[in-house]
Parts: sequence; C-alpha cells; structure tokens
Amino acid sequence: MVSTGLVITATMSMANVVINDPRSLVLLPRFGIEFGFGDQTVEDICRSKGIDVNLFLLMVNTFLSPNYFPSKMLRYKESNLELLLVYLQKSHNYYLEVKIPKLHLHIEDFLSTAKHPAMLQLKAFFNEYIQEVREHISYEEQTAFPYIQLFISNNSDKALDSNYTITEFRKHHSDIEEKLSDLKNLLIKYLPPSSDSYLQVTILRELIDLENDLVNHARIEDKILIPIVEQLEQTLK
Ligand SMILES: [Fe+2]
Repeated sequence: MVSTGLVITATMSMANVVINDPRSLVLLPRFGIEFGFGDQTVEDICRSKGIDVNLFLLMVNTFLSPNYFPSKMLRYKESNLELLLVYLQKSHNYYLEVKIPKLHLHIEDFLSTAKHPAMLQLKAFFNEYIQEVREHISYEEQTAFPYIQLFISNNSDKALDSNYTITEFRKHHSDIEEKLSDLKNLLIKYLPPSSDSYLQVTILRELIDLENDLVNHARIEDKILIPIVEQLEQTLK
C-alpha cells in the first residue's frame, strides 16, 4: 500500500520504509544501499554505510513528500555535499541509461504496431524531449556540479572568484518536467490505436513514473542542494 504523507524516521526498519512507500525503492541504489537488509533500521544502515542519517532522512522525505519541511536545517558538512552530488549523478545515470532507453524501446515497438500519421509526430516529440533531458543533465554535470565540487575540495576561493554563482543553476533549472507532462497528457488524449493495448499502458506508466521521479529529483536540487551552496557562498564571501 502506498502511504502518502508518512514521515520516514531513523528508527523505522528499512524494509517498512519500502513496504509503506515503494517509491523509495529507486532511491536506495543512489545511496549505495543494497537490498537484503533484514530488520535493520534506517539508522543502522546509514551508520554501516557512512551516510549522515539526517541527510538521508531529509533527502528521502523531501523526495517522497512535496510539502515536507525539516524540523531543523542541516548544518553544512563537506561529506554531505559530496553525498548529494553522488546521489544526483546516480539519478542522472538512471534516467539516461535505464529509464529513457527503456521508454525509447517501447515507443519503437509501438511505432511498429500502429501506422498512423500522428506516430511521426509522437516520435519527433519524444526525440526532442530526450534531447532536452540530455542538455539539462549535461549542464548540471559540466557546469554546476564542478563549481560545487570546488567547495568540497577546499577550493572555495576559486569558486568565489569565478563568475558563476549557484543562482545561475536556479535560473537554469529548465522546465523538462513540464515538457514530459505535456507529452504524457498528449499521449493520454491522443495515443493512436495499436494492436497491443498493453504496450500503450506500459508506455504511459513509464512516462508517469519518469515524470514523478524527475519532479522529485528537482525538488532535492531546489530545496536541499541549492540552499546549502547559497549558504556557503554567503558565509565564505
Ligand atoms: Fe539534476
């Protein structure tokens, strides 16, 4: 059963976290947490993996609940920022290497089952969308993350001397989720008939899943990553 609004705490068993809200499943590999955790609590697992449990709770709760607000703000630590970047990079890899290729294959399959003029449009729209996601991720990985990395590697002087600030990242955060949601809405309304209706269901489910994951991912960037770096820029200036 998916429970919305349940706040994950340190003393909960990790198995219950997943059972209560299976959306949390996808997060575990991003933290390097393997399955088969038995009855261990969130705190036990974080300790054995060297993960700051408060950061873990902040990220998981922010991912799962749009309105989650931590009771106290996290104090900056280099290791936290590093964990955040690793987590975000792993989610980017998941989109580029798992989710999008899978969706691509399903769409190719679908194109071969239905001959309809709208199919070409669908293909073009999808390709355009993939291109946007790639550009968005490559901006983050080639510009924003190396800048943040300077703070982690004790090169904050270099970061502060550069022309870049994290405000750029906030501004640059484009509307890829919105585009995906347009694509999904378009398909729900106008998906051409096909001999394989389960394939239609699979495509729509994959799109909805990717859309949710991307929205929740952006929330971690906006509500956790950017404020930590803004705080650093202000205190080190
Ligand atoms: Fe990102």
